[in-house]
Amino acid sequence: MFALSCPHQNNAVKWLQGPALQCTKHDSQYQPDGVHTSGRATRNMIANVIRRDGDAIVVDLHRWIQSDKDPTGWAAATVAI
Ligand code: FES
Repeated sequence: MFALSCPHQNNAVKWLQGPALQCTKHDSQYQPDGVHTSGRATRNMIANVIRRDGDAIVVDLHRWIQSDKDPTGWAAATVAI
């Protein structure tokens, strides 16, 4: 799960056909898995820390993972359903 703001200057990102995500300010684009593919941003989208708790998925909105600072944590920031 990703913060829906661009890591360049924290502007909103929108969903595009393709599929892809695009920043609404400088048009950086990201794959659905948050990987940066083009534009001014220099890194992947910021992942929220999540965990599975029984039938629920818990999102910690106070902790996040940046791919350039914690690539292993960023890659593991998924929950299998
Ligand atoms: S704010 Fe998103 S590319 Fe600049």
